[in-house]
Amino acid sequence: MRNTFFILFTLLAILTSCSENEKTYRIAVSQCGSGRWRDKVSREMLAAQHLYDQDVKVDVIEAHDDTELQIRQIDSLADTDMDLLVVAPNEAAPVAEAIAKVRKKGIPVIYFDRKAETNDYTAFIGGNNVEAGKASANYVLNLAGPLLADGHKPKVVEITGAMTSSPAQERHEGFSSMMSDHEELEYICKEADWTSDEACRIAEELLDSEFPPVFFFCHNDGMATGVYKAVVEKNAEGKVQILGIDGLPGEGIEYVQFGHQVGSYVYPTHGELIVKLALDILTGQPYERDN
Ligand code: FRU
Repeated sequence: MRNTFFILFTLLAILTSCSENEKTYRIAVSQCGSGRWRDKVSREMLAAQHLYDQDVKVDVIEAHDDTELQIRQIDSLADTDMDLLVVAPNEAAPVAEAIAKVRKKGIPVIYFDRKAETNDYTAFIGGNNVEAGKASANYVLNLAGPLLADGHKPKVVEITGAMTSSPAQERHEGFSSMMSDHEELEYICKEADWTSDEACRIAEELLDSEFPPVFFFCHNDGMATGVYKAVVEKNAEGKVQILGIDGLPGEGIEYVQFGHQVGSYVYPTHGELIVKLALDILTGQPYERDN
């Protein structure tokens, strides 16, 4: 009897110590804004809480495209017990200081999709935005082929996201570098702010001009819908070809199927890989710094 008691007691002690040792990894995610693309990444990260062996808690905090708010949110996150910060900085320069403070506390930081202007980060994971710009430019060049063969000089307009954010800077870098090699096209670039309304306003103005554009390349599909709205309003359907980025089902893919856009570049989400990278960092596994 005494022996059974002893075994039971020992088992209980082992079980208690196991559960005490099982750490819950707290991952805070600072999202710059919302929208279909970002919401999909957030849902994937939340689902990934149950995907891996470790006990992990993901909290997503959204900054509504407001840089000041994002800075305040990161500052207050730095005072919590988070183990790692995942951040998509709304603007590359202003958010850098808040991130530096987090790093000073020894907390690892993953940039996802967007980068800040500080090299003091643990890892980056995101799409190749320079490549997205180049691939879109290549597509425009293909589409322009028949017009060029007929001796036309079609106007190509790039409508950018907010140029204070790293994806807009990189998409522009890729697209404009290709366009500068092709003077047979007339290329102009207009800065917008990722919103459909602003893209619509810009497109309306351009469609009213003496030489309206033939091609619009927008930095996301949301802005491409704004351009399409302007095209419909100005009775320019069939005269204009629109390209976007994100390529989500229910958004860009659908607009291409409807014929509103001629193409959309698929910008991958993969929230589960962000959580995997975070866990590799937290558990001391090998990981790539730039993904
Ligand atoms: C959403 C979004 C996407 C875009 C990405 C770039 O906030 O604007 O549409 O591809 O951000 O960071």
